[in-house]
Amino acid sequence: MKQNLMKESNESINKAVEYLEKKKLVALKTETVYGIACDPGNIYALKKLYKIKQRPFYNPLIIHVNSIDLAKKIVHTSKDAEYLMKNFWPGPLTLILPRKLNNLIHDLALSGLQTVAIRFPKSGIMSKIITKFQKPIAAPSANESGYISATDANHVIDSFGNKIDLVIDSGRTNYGLESTILDLTKKPYQLKRHGVLDYKIISKKTGIKIVEEDPRKIDLKKPNSPGQLLKHYAPKTPLFTNVTEPMQDDAFLNFGKKSINHQASLNLSVSADLDEAAYNLFDFLRKLDKLKKKRIVVAPIPNTGIGKTINERLFRASI
Ligand code: TXA
Ligand code: MG
Repeated sequence: MKQNLMKESNESINKAVEYLEKKKLVALKTETVYGIACDPGNIYALKKLYKIKQRPFYNPLIIHVNSIDLAKKIVHTSKDAEYLMKNFWPGPLTLILPRKLNNLIHDLALSGLQTVAIRFPKSGIMSKIITKFQKPIAAPSANESGYISATDANHVIDSFGNKIDLVIDSGRTNYGLESTILDLTKKPYQLKRHGVLDYKIISKKTGIKIVEEDPRKIDLKKPNSPGQLLKHYAPKTPLFTNVTEPMQDDAFLNFGKKSINHQASLNLSVSADLDEAAYNLFDFLRKLDKLKKKRIVVAPIPNTGIGKTINERLFRASI
C-alpha cells in the first residue's frame, strides 16, 4: 500500500486534521466525487492546491461546511437559500451566495469574487474532519485540472501519486458525478452546473424558480462561473459521443442491452439504469483511457434526469 494512502479510521481522521492544520492537502470522499481538502483561510495551502491541480487562479473553490450555522458565518443567506439548505443539505447541492467578510476564507479561494459557492456534503468523513478542524474546508474535485474526476481513492493516487500528502480511502463515491450548482445572487436564480440533483426537481419540490443559464449570454472574460466553459472531464484519448458502431482501434463505452462484440469495451449499465451509468462514468472513462486506444467512443445516453448531467460531462470531455 502507498504510504500516503490510508483507510478511513479514527487514526486517519486525526492525521487528516493534523495535516490540514499544517497546511497540507488531504483527499477525502464526498457523496459525489473525491475532493482535495485544504484550509480555505491559508494562502500557503491554497497555493499548493492550485499548483498540484494545475488549476488556474481565476477558478474559485467550493467551500464545504457541516452545518447551516457554519454556512451562515461565511455567506449572507436569504429565505429561499435557507429553504433550499433545509430541504437538500446535507447533499449534492452547492449554492452561490454573497460572501461575508472574515478570515475563514482567503480571497485566493474565491478568486477575488464577492460570492462563495458553498455546500454541506453528505459525507461522514468530511463532517467529522470539519468538526475536529473547527473550520470550513475548501475542496475542488481530486483530479488534475481538466481531467476526469475521481470517484475512488485509487483514482486520486493515479492522478497525483505522492504529490498529495494524504489520501483517505472511504470506498467509492455514492453518486459518481459532482454536485448541482445554483447561483442565488440574482433573480431569476440560475443553474450554473448540472449535477446529481435535477434542477427541475429542486424547483418543483420547493416552488423556487430556477433557470438554466443561456450559454450564448455567458461572458467568457468574466470569471463568474469560470470552470464551466472550458474543456473538462476529458480523458487523454480523444472522445466522441453518440457512436453506435465502434471501429477496431476504438475503446467503446456502451450503455444498455444492445451488446456488441468489441474487445475493448465497458458497459455503463446493461439494464440502462442512468444512476448506475452516472456511478460508473468517471471510473470507466479512466479505465478506457489507460488502454491508450486511438479514440474512446461512447454510445448514446438518454438525455433525461441525471442523463442530462452525464451528457453534459461527455460533451465537455469531447470538445
Ligand atoms: O461535488 C462537488 O461539488 C465536488 C466535491 C468535491 O464537493 N467539488 C467540485 O469542485 O466539483 P470543483 O472545484 O471541481 O468545481 C467547482 C465549480 C467550478 O466550476 C468553479 O468555477 C465553480 O464551482 N465555482 C466555485 N466558486 C464559485 C463562485 N463563487 N461563483 C461561481 N462559480 C463558482
Ligand atoms: Mg472539478
